[in-house]
Amino acid sequence: MLKAKIAGIGYYVPENVITNNDLKKYMDTSDEWIQERTGIKERRYAQRTGETTTTMGVQAATIAIERAGITPQDIDFIIFATLSPDYYFPGCGVLLQRAMKMKEIGALDIRNQCSGFVYALSVADQFIKTGMYKNILVVGSEKHSFGLDFSTRGRSVSVIFGDGAGAVVLQPTTNPNQGILSTHLHSDGESAEILAMYNPGTHANHWVQTPLANFDDAEIGQMFMSNAMVNEAQNFPYMDGPAVFKKAIIKMPEVVEEALLANNLTAADIDMLIPHQANLRIAQFVQQKLRLKDEQVFNNIQKFGNTTAASVPIALCEAWETGKIKDGNLVCLAAFGSGFTWAGALIRW
Ligand code: COA
Repeated sequence: MLKAKIAGIGYYVPENVITNNDLKKYMDTSDEWIQERTGIKERRYAQRTGETTTTMGVQAATIAIERAGITPQDIDFIIFATLSPDYYFPGCGVLLQRAMKMKEIGALDIRNQCSGFVYALSVADQFIKTGMYKNILVVGSEKHSFGLDFSTRGRSVSVIFGDGAGAVVLQPTTNPNQGILSTHLHSDGESAEILAMYNPGTHANHWVQTPLANFDDAEIGQMFMSNAMVNEAQNFPYMDGPAVFKKAIIKMPEVVEEALLANNLTAADIDMLIPHQANLRIAQFVQQKLRLKDEQVFNNIQKFGNTTAASVPIALCEAWETGKIKDGNLVCLAAFGSGFTWAGALIRW
């Protein structure tokens, strides 16, 4: 039976290192608070101009494609996960296709925030297993620094996030001892608004409830302006941090256990868990719940912050590059984020 294997992996983070003390210049915060509550010491910010979610994705993809021993022209499908696209539309998939001079292949954007990469991997896995594609590029990339509220009002969100990208190339394999064993996807939209960025969006209630026929053009123009500008906070990500925390520490271990059960494995069989790098304390709770040893879990949030859709592939790549993941190892991915959506994957490396 065909399975999908990770044939190449790469990551890219911008050069610009932003420490917790750097953030103190803009908001009332401290290195001590950020490290104690999140584990984060520093994060990377992209260049203000010239470096975008797509260009970072291209950097990571270039490494992944080279390591897979192929060229960009061999890629036959692109899946791009991000919540911080270059444009509201079109998505980053086509921008990457253009930048890397790829063929006129399909390009799909995934909007699943922190679980975006694992969702993207799952979609790619299905296409490989059915034999539809042979070289799928899966990218997670984020440029958060462009859209955060750096005032004290936004401090509980802005200190967490960082920029970067990760990418993998998936190829088919018939080797029974290698490849993606299973993926598991979930959502619960009940709390969609507690981790969200409302604008730009079509959510304004007066738009929905009021028939446009009652207004002339000038009034409609004014309504649009006020909709966009009245509540400036809605232009930045909003998060009820403690509520997100409580749900994440339940759902992440749950999806890992689901994946293990589906494959008749136990937590002791995991060689490396790559948890979404949301917050070091969340990862530690997950580790505790699953009774995993320190050497079974990889975290790098200390250096890069939470890079949302890029966090899992960046951590996976760094763990592999530093020799912490070896051929034949059982690797588990687990992610949780806005939506809420959460997802897990088990991979025989
Ligand atoms: N610097 C200093 N103080 C801050 C701060 C900052 N950057 N951000 C918030 N505070 C303050 C709050 O205003 C609050 O002050 P008060 O007690 O005077 O009201 C206090 O610190 C505690 O805030 P709270 O939000 O309860 O802290 P917390 O321990 O829950 O930590 C998060 C906040 C955001 C770090 C934490 O809830 C979290 O990590 N949640 C999950 C976030 C996440 O993973 N999101 C990504 C999606 S998966």
